[in-house]
Amino acid sequence: MENLTIRTANLQDYEALLTFEQAVVEAERPFNSSIKAEGAVYYDIKHLLKGDDANLAVVEINEEIIATGYAQIRASKKSLSHEKHAYLGFMFVAAEYRGLGINKLVMENLIDWSKAQGILDIYLDVYSENNAAIKAYEKIGFTPSLVEMKLNVGT
Ligand SMILES: CC(C)(COP(=O)(O)OP(=O)(O)OC[C@H]1O[C@@H](n2cnc3c(N)ncnc32)[C@H](O)[C@@H]1OP(=O)(O)O)[C@@H](O)C(=O)NCCC(=O)NCCS
Repeated sequence: MENLTIRTANLQDYEALLTFEQAVVEAERPFNSSIKAEGAVYYDIKHLLKGDDANLAVVEINEEIIATGYAQIRASKKSLSHEKHAYLGFMFVAAEYRGLGINKLVMENLIDWSKAQGILDIYLDVYSENNAAIKAYEKIGFTPSLVEMKLNVGT
C-alpha cells in the first residue's frame, strides 16, 4: 500500500492515541454492557509511550495514523513454565482500512519485538463475539485459551 509506514509511537502522538483509545472503547461497547457510558479509559498510554516494558506501534498512511497496537512484557502466573509473557492490546485499524492485512502487519511487528526481548509466549484478550478480531488473531496463529465468565446479581 502506498506511503504505509509502521513505527513506534512517541509523545507527540499522545492526543491522537487518546482518540484512537476511545475508538476501541466504542468498537467494544456492543460486546460489554458494563463499559462506562462516559470516561471509559483502557490504557495507560503515557506509560506505554515510555517504552521501558512496552512497544506501542502505529501505522501511518501519508503521515496520518490509521492503526495502533502495543506489546507489553508482563509477569506470568507463577504456575506457568514461562516467567514473563508479552500482552498485546490497543489493536485498532481505521474502518476504511480493515481487511487489508494491516492488523497482521502490526501484530507481526509486535511479535518480532517480543522475540527480540526474549519473550516467546504471547497473550491477548478479545470479546468472544468480536468475530472480525478473533479471525484476524487466528490468522496469525492464536488459539482460544482462558474464557472469562461473568454474572450480575444486582437485580
Ligand atoms: C480487529 C481489527 C484490528 C482487525 O484489523 P484488520 O486490519 O482488518 O485485520 P486484517 O486485515 O489483518 O485481518 C485479517 C483477517 O481478519 C478477518 N477480518 C477482518 N475484518 C473482518 C470483518 N470485518 N469481518 C470478518 N472478518 C474480518 C479476516 O479473516 C481477515 O483475513 P482475510 O482478509 O484474509 O479474510 C479491526 O477489525 C478493528 O480495528 N476492529 C475494531 C477494534 C477492535 O475490535 N479491536 C480488537 C480489540 S481485541
